[in-house]
Amino acid sequence: MTADPIKLMKQEVGKAAADRVQSGSIVGLGTGSTTAYTIQFLGDHLKTGELKDIIGIPTSFQAEVLAKQYGIPLTTLDAVDHIDIAIDGADEVDPQKNLIKGGGAAHTREKIVDYLANQFIVVVDSSKIVERLGSSFPVPVEVIPMAIAPVMRAIEKLGGKPELRMGVKKAGPVITDRGNMVVDVKFDTINDPATLEKTLNNIPGVLENGLFVGVTDLVLVGEVKNGEPIVREM
Ligand code: 5RP
Repeated sequence: MTADPIKLMKQEVGKAAADRVQSGSIVGLGTGSTTAYTIQFLGDHLKTGELKDIIGIPTSFQAEVLAKQYGIPLTTLDAVDHIDIAIDGADEVDPQKNLIKGGGAAHTREKIVDYLANQFIVVVDSSKIVERLGSSFPVPVEVIPMAIAPVMRAIEKLGGKPELRMGVKKAGPVITDRGNMVVDVKFDTINDPATLEKTLNNIPGVLENGLFVGVTDLVLVGEVKNGEPIVREM
């Protein structure tokens, strides 16, 4: 067994989600290290014939690359009128199954795909479960580059502490798949995520924020018990 418990939980929960996909489904493919396992297992199931005729809609460049690598056929939202199931990760999950997403700066495309799905399943390891959103993770906000300064000022007026997300192994800010920037916003407390989601999106220049409220159908939580990975439903 691998020594890294977080990796083990992600793997197990990624597989559990892939097992819920049925042949013939249109599948929203999430972004991040947990859904990377789901995409891998979906590809494996297609290869063994356990699964047939699924078609994926990627939520990011990362998901698209992985789907191609594992042999999952892809389509776009222009070509289909529904999504049967979307599987995606999260950075925080509260007891009402509301989420903070956007750790991979993909939350705009993720929100479009995840909200369209008839069933939206979230896959996380147990470290992502919180009593209140914003406890450990800031709210990512995708911003059109020319509006960065006024958006950051408007967020400060709302009581948030905005920070432009900087690249790793790349000088300067993170640029999203759509050519925009991300501001990570720390709030002291988030009492009403639904209102905050709308308020942030009303600032001119904000494309989308990482609060996902009232949309999750099921959370699969990976845990390690007695040294073994297990999956709990929430
Ligand atoms: C990307 C996301 C991811 O789903 C989220 O960051 C979780 O990632 P991981 O599975 O690597 O922990 O929202 O924008």
